[in-house]
Amino acid sequence: MGLEGGGIAAQPSISEQISRPDLRAIYSHAMESIATATDLASLDAARVRFLGRKAELTALLRSIPELPVAERPEVGKIGNLVRRELEAAIEARREELEAGELMLGLEKDRVDISLPGWTLPLGHLHLVTQTRREIEDIFIGMGYEVADGPEVETDYYNFEALNTPADHPARSLHDTFFVNDQVLLRTHTSPVQIRTMERQRPPIHIIIPGKAYRRDSDATHTPMFHQVEGLVVGEHVTLADLKGTLETFARAMFGSERQVRLRPHFFPFTEPSVEVDVSCMICEGAGCRLCKKSGWLEILGAGMVDPNVFGFVDYDPEVYSGFAFGMGIERIAMLKHGVNDLRLFFENDLRFLRQF
Ligand code: PHE
Repeated sequence: MGLEGGGIAAQPSISEQISRPDLRAIYSHAMESIATATDLASLDAARVRFLGRKAELTALLRSIPELPVAERPEVGKIGNLVRRELEAAIEARREELEAGELMLGLEKDRVDISLPGWTLPLGHLHLVTQTRREIEDIFIGMGYEVADGPEVETDYYNFEALNTPADHPARSLHDTFFVNDQVLLRTHTSPVQIRTMERQRPPIHIIIPGKAYRRDSDATHTPMFHQVEGLVVGEHVTLADLKGTLETFARAMFGSERQVRLRPHFFPFTEPSVEVDVSCMICEGAGCRLCKKSGWLEILGAGMVDPNVFGFVDYDPEVYSGFAFGMGIERIAMLKHGVNDLRLFFENDLRFLRQF
């Protein structure tokens, strides 16, 4: 409805009805402020100014009892009419402004759904994880199962039951992180051999990938590193089975041309014990910098399970025999990919990681 009285011709427009100059001035002032309010805040300011408790109109209406009697009906009637008109005008203007702000907001937040999305950078598996999975796949292909165990271990599983009593000189080679007298961070994955044999009877064919910890740090040692342990126990398991298994592994990992060689070594929990070398894949055995002119690269430690170890898990060494091996995952990855510093694996430099 128009503020001037709509389309009803007989109705005089409101400004015509306002005979008092003060009311007329208030009315036209207020209507102009309302019409020119450009946002809700200025509209509210106009409302306070013209209809608030301190507004001129409010004061005038309040003063009616003091006016000459003749003026009272006129001021009361027209004054209230003006107030209602202003209220209506403010309400109408508010609706207009709110609609405008809504449109503005919609315009500002508009999304072009035809724009192409962001291409998020895609990472990939860490070289250690890739290598671990490769090793797992090779052994799973030979019928092995994957087992695991705790990284915080007891002295019993990490040493004692692996035929390494408290006074054994081999302990000093391990640079152990101790939590207390009896608890430590496992120095190898071999304790899971014991935990597995305690739980199940032969035949056993497992590999145990996991973290190991030693107090050591240089180009070929980090305080935390990864190993894959292997354990096979059965009724007629021999050193020849160990060699054949490791040959199969070495060829799957480093190429079908690889030769494997066993050198006598010592571990407390295997007898006999060996270190296992693979023929150098850079020089094919001729001798180069990687293999230090020897033609061979050491890849792991292994041996036949010591009968004393079977004693700790109640396996009859007259019935059962077995072999075990343990390799460093980082070392395998270094040899395979020509990485010369172990610390690179853990520095998380993307320039290094992205190469694999
Ligand atoms: N646990 C040995 C090490 O960490 C490796 C190994 C495992 C040797 C199994 C023999 C048999 O050095």
